[in-house]
Amino acid sequence: MSTPLLRLAVLISGRGSNLQAILDAIAAGRLAAQVVQVISNRPGAAGLDLAAASGLPTAVLDHRQYPDRAAFEQALIAQIDTAQPDLLVLAGFMRVLTADFVQRWRGRLINIHPSLLPAFAGLDTHARALAAGATEHGASVHFVTAAVDGGPLIAQARVPVMADDTPDSLARRVLCAEHRLYPQVIGWYAAGRLALDGEAVLLDGLPRKLPVQLNCEMTDHA
Ligand code: GAR
Repeated sequence: MSTPLLRLAVLISGRGSNLQAILDAIAAGRLAAQVVQVISNRPGAAGLDLAAASGLPTAVLDHRQYPDRAAFEQALIAQIDTAQPDLLVLAGFMRVLTADFVQRWRGRLINIHPSLLPAFAGLDTHARALAAGATEHGASVHFVTAAVDGGPLIAQARVPVMADDTPDSLARRVLCAEHRLYPQVIGWYAAGRLALDGEAVLLDGLPRKLPVQLNCEMTDHA
């Protein structure tokens, strides 16, 4: 009997290009998993249309409709539980989650962030990397803990910073890297190769001192 596919719930707030990259990897047979629901906290998120176009169940939980963060998260938990996912994937989900929420999903909750963490946690990462004169930039995937953008790092994809980069051109290059990185990391999880043990990331049963580094071949100015 074949093992059941890993069940992913994907949380978004906007465009959904990382969601699409995950769906493309599944469709291409590069990722043995299934997306069982897509949840957005923003009603107009373009990613909802991408999900619907792939025939996926979607839900909108507009955080502004709830009196506080706890009430929003209670509704979020109830919504997630309807689909019984194995892994919660934050893909451009721009709400900070409380310690209670992340504790509930500890080891089963991952995020992608557009910088080489711990550098440039927070917003406007590309503009800040340029302003700091960084010669290299990229994206990180990490397990989510109560520390915002601070959970144990799993893997990073690096891209060069070009002399004539703008925040937009750099963002595009990083996004290409994100689209390779995220399906790959989810694939490790799906294959049972990736786990969180306390604060340590285990890959193939071994604790990683440093995140796995993936070099993105994209060096163009796209
Ligand atoms: C991505 O660049 C992702 O890394 C970032 O939002 C973008 C979402 O794009 N996430 C964060 O900044 C989280 N702190 P997408 O909606 O096209 O996937």
